[in-house]
Amino acid sequence: MVIYRVVVHQEGFFLSGDAHRTSIQLVGSKGASDCVPLAERSAEYEVSCPASLGALLLVRLEAPPTTTSVWFCSKVTVTTPEGRVLLFPCYRFVRCSTALALRDSIAKFVFDDVRPIELEQRINELMYQSMKAEDEKFLHSVSHTHTHTHTHTHTHFLSVQLSPTHTPTHTHTSCPLLGLVERLWKDDWFFGQQFLNGANPTLIRRCSELPSNMAVTEEMVRSSLEGGASLQQEMERGNIFLVDYRRLDGLTPNMVNKKQNYITAPLVLLHLNSKHFLLPIAIQLKQAPGEDNPVFVPQDLEFDWLTAKTFVRAADFAEHELHAHFLRTHMMSELFAMATLRNFPMAHPLYKLLIPHFRFTLEIDTLARNLLISDGGTLSTYTAVGGPGMLEFLRRASAALTYHDLCLPDDITRRGLESIPNYYYRDDGLQLILIGHRYVEGVASYYYHDDSDVIRDSELQSWINEIIVFGHLIDEKKGFPKSFTSVSELTYFVTMVIFTASAQHAAVNNAQLDYFGWMPNAPVGLQLPPPSTKGLCSESSLLASFPDVNATVHGLATVYLLSKRPTDYVPLGSSAEQHFTENFPVEMAARFRSDLKRLSYEIQVRNIGLMLPYVYLQPHNVEDSVAR
Ligand SMILES: [Fe+2]
Repeated sequence: MVIYRVVVHQEGFFLSGDAHRTSIQLVGSKGASDCVPLAERSAEYEVSCPASLGALLLVRLEAPPTTTSVWFCSKVTVTTPEGRVLLFPCYRFVRCSTALALRDSIAKFVFDDVRPIELEQRINELMYQSMKAEDEKFLHSVSHTHTHTHTHTHTHFLSVQLSPTHTPTHTHTSCPLLGLVERLWKDDWFFGQQFLNGANPTLIRRCSELPSNMAVTEEMVRSSLEGGASLQQEMERGNIFLVDYRRLDGLTPNMVNKKQNYITAPLVLLHLNSKHFLLPIAIQLKQAPGEDNPVFVPQDLEFDWLTAKTFVRAADFAEHELHAHFLRTHMMSELFAMATLRNFPMAHPLYKLLIPHFRFTLEIDTLARNLLISDGGTLSTYTAVGGPGMLEFLRRASAALTYHDLCLPDDITRRGLESIPNYYYRDDGLQLILIGHRYVEGVASYYYHDDSDVIRDSELQSWINEIIVFGHLIDEKKGFPKSFTSVSELTYFVTMVIFTASAQHAAVNNAQLDYFGWMPNAPVGLQLPPPSTKGLCSESSLLASFPDVNATVHGLATVYLLSKRPTDYVPLGSSAEQHFTENFPVEMAARFRSDLKRLSYEIQVRNIGLMLPYVYLQPHNVEDSVAR
């Protein structure tokens, strides 16, 4: 007779249940144990077998159909009669009719599994998760997602994803700039710096040639440039920048409180002066030039200029929430999460690497669909870009999305922003990419011995194929890889996935309350049409443009909630889930955390000297996943 000592780790003050009525069975290469019922108040068990089970392959947990108990199993550890301690990660709920077959924590590719029972487990696990996904009709493409207002929930997937440590309460949030924005929102330098380090740092680009539809002339901007330089000279020197909201052009604006709202698609020209201030020098509020579409300049009357800037800020609110935030972080993370759940079994090293970065993503996106963009949702009801314009905008944005948009180094290069000073989103983001790439490269190189391993990993190839197909990313012009042929190609992509789910989301999510908490700096909509001639704007016309109180309150409540840090907040790299146990990936993860800590310190030191500290990509402020 031999004894296996088993510890079942049950977590849970959330949806906690007891594990009784679940049975556990050990399966080895030389046979299986009896099914042992779990006791009501014990985590440790002894499983007796007549002889050694050989190599321990699986731990089976099975709950009968009649049980009403729901409990969360984080992991099972087994000490064999030979003295080996094996860990079997679970991190799933056990409920009625559950039959889980857990693999030990040593990562394996499909081509490493030589025993039929291992392959069977692998296939069954994928079928189990795929079936749930099919039930939910969840894997609509990004563009399809935007053409429907989904009302379904993802209950089944939540049972896979939810951890019992999740609670809906929040702690105070860090919003160091909220009070300053109220004081600074009218200042041109503050207006300009928001394009670099505000809530939406993704739209500005260097301008080497004026857009053909912008009717700005040398005379209009001459007094804004220094030392008699011409606009052409400043463009050649790399000092002129453009923000173009053309995706908003021609959208059907929303009615809010039965009042017509207005959306403009501004063009904003900015100049980087010798003191490194980025100042707006011309604003054209509509795309088509014409007599009813004046180019506003800082020398205009105070309220003409302030009204023009306010229309830009309202456009930026729409661009930020729907494109930079919802599409590029929430929707893309959901796409990556779904492909991961459907194509990688838990034994796959990339499952182990990626799964912490999808914590609560399906849940928060379900809430966003049901409460923000659905009929009657906050964005649909109270914002100018809500309603029919929202779906068209999202269609345009998803159609234009490229791989390079999601890869920060490429994005910075393509926007010509490699050298613009004081662009902290770029500086901190590139450091995070560097650290993340080193981590992913280390883990990927450890498991994929050479490029041929990448090519023959059928689960990996299915994963990228599903991302491409269901994300409608197949167009060559979008630049996404259709398959992986090398470790380096895979590393670059996976680094992008983790960056999108963590840092990129932090950059656009966590700045919301700071920059949108003072309504005039980010109106959810404007109730008067944009000025078609100069000299008619006034303080009273600007006040009349602002959204109604109830629309403002709903907008503020939303950004307040999304900016608040939950009590179960998990910083980047700090997941408590134990998926890897092999020395090398564990050491790589430790180095990842150490690198992040060093970067946190460096950013903290840098921020001491800044009037507007950039804190959103300080690693301890970067959440591990899209979770709010
Ligand atoms: Fe978010």
